This record gives sequence, structure tokens and C-alpha cells, in this order.
Amino acid sequence: MKHNIKICDKNDLEKMRKAGRFAKMVLDYIEPYIKIDITTDELNTLCHDFIVSHGAVSATLNYNGFPKSICTSVNDVICHGIPGKYALKSGDIINVDVTVILDGWHGDTSRTFLVGNCSKLAQNLIEIAKRSLFIGIDAVKPYGHFGDIGKAIQKFVDKYGFSIVRDYCGHGIGNIFHSAPNVLHYDAGEKGPQILPGMFFTIEPMINAGSHKSKLLKDGWTVTTTDKSLSAQFEHTIAVGEDFVEVLTL
Ligand code: MF3
Ligand code: CO
Ligand code: CO
Repeated sequence: MKHNIKICDKNDLEKMRKAGRFAKMVLDYIEPYIKIDITTDELNTLCHDFIVSHGAVSATLNYNGFPKSICTSVNDVICHGIPGKYALKSGDIINVDVTVILDGWHGDTSRTFLVGNCSKLAQNLIEIAKRSLFIGIDAVKPYGHFGDIGKAIQKFVDKYGFSIVRDYCGHGIGNIFHSAPNVLHYDAGEKGPQILPGMFFTIEPMINAGSHKSKLLKDGWTVTTTDKSLSAQFEHTIAVGEDFVEVLTL
């Protein structure tokens, strides 16, 4: 079957490994700062300075006009939250999504963190979102299909009564930020394109406590749940070889 998904070589893989490792380092760096009273803009500045001081650049800054160096998505924000004056409070959950460009190649990863004392629901949602990412990763096989990923995630998440966001998906990645294919996190009942050696892509399931429905706010970026329910997300960048599946942001 024909596809327009880029196939990369050993050299590209080395560069993607470095970009992935660095994106993970940014999350490790910011984690201890995620505490009550810090503003999302302060988290942005810390990440920005860390990225730049290591000779990398943020892929999100000025990406289609996005104004900041990371995305910070709090509580009912599903994704693409813009850092600003909001100060974290006890009980919040916050996803920090970091995409860096190192030597021309992209590393994209996110985690959702608990702030102070969170509800059992918030804790469970985060746990299931994180596990759903690894269920998706486990479904990746060289010469398998992209549809296997969403199928596995859906089977898993359905058991917990949470929902999977359908309006946003994972993506091909490499020397450009977002490329084919769309990596669906739900079961669309289709096999999808074949997963071939030399492909790089992300898996980044967004899991809602309530309805899967999303809406875009007037700022043109922030995506929230429509029912104000909590949303959690984890993301990794993946490389596939002849006989391996490698998580580049682990
Ligand atoms: N990092 C996000 C992703 O996982 C994309 C952010 S684009 C932005 O694909 F412009 F909103 F920053
Ligand atoms: Co991504
Ligand atoms: Co991301």
C-alpha cells in the first residue's frame, strides 16, 4: 500500500535519539518546580532558558503563531494550553508538553503532574492516561499497522469508564514537527497505514474523565473538554526499526 510517511536512516535515528533524550531532560528538569503558586508562565520561562542554554530551540515557540516555548494544560484543558498568569493550586493537574529541535530534529514528549492534594479521580485518570500510552506503545510492531495502536488503547480505557479524545492525535515527526500519519488513539475500525522500519512518530493519548468531546477556545489554541471534566495526557516519541521499537523520550 502506498503511503507518504518518511523513511529515515541510521544517521537520522542517532539525531532523533539525541533530540528525544533532550526533550525528556527538559521534563525531568521542570518536574520539581511544579508546585503550588508557581505560574504557568514561570514554568515556560524556566523551560525556555533550559532549552536555549543547551543549544536547542523550542519547536512550539512561534509554531503557527503559538506564543510560548511549552504547552501547559491545566485540569479541563485537553492540550495546547498557553502558559500565562495562572498560578497552580492544590488539587490541580497539569500537563507539560515539551517539543524541542536539536540539530534540526524534533523530540516531543509530555507528562501530566499532580499539584498538592488531588482527588482520587484525578489520580486514577492520570494513572490510566499513563498506562494507556504504554498499552499503545506495546501495540507497535514493525510491519504492523497504525490502527493497532488505537484499538489497543480503546480496549484498555473502556474498562475504566474514561473517554479518549478523538479530535487530536499523534503524528509523524522527524526533521519536521507534524507529518503523516495521524496516529489515532481510539478504535476507528480501520487498519490504517503499515508501520515500517525507519518511521518516527508520537503516541499521545488524551484521556477525559467525562465526555470525549473537545472545544477550541477563542484564543485559537486552548482545547478543553466540553463538560468541564478533567483531562490527562502522556506522550512519547517512537522510532521503529527492522526488529525493534524504541521509545526515544524515555
Ligand atoms: N507538542 C504538541 C504535540 O504533541 C503540539 C504543540 S503545538 C503548539 O503535538 F503550537 F500548540 F505548541
Ligand atoms: Co506530539
Ligand atoms: Co507534544
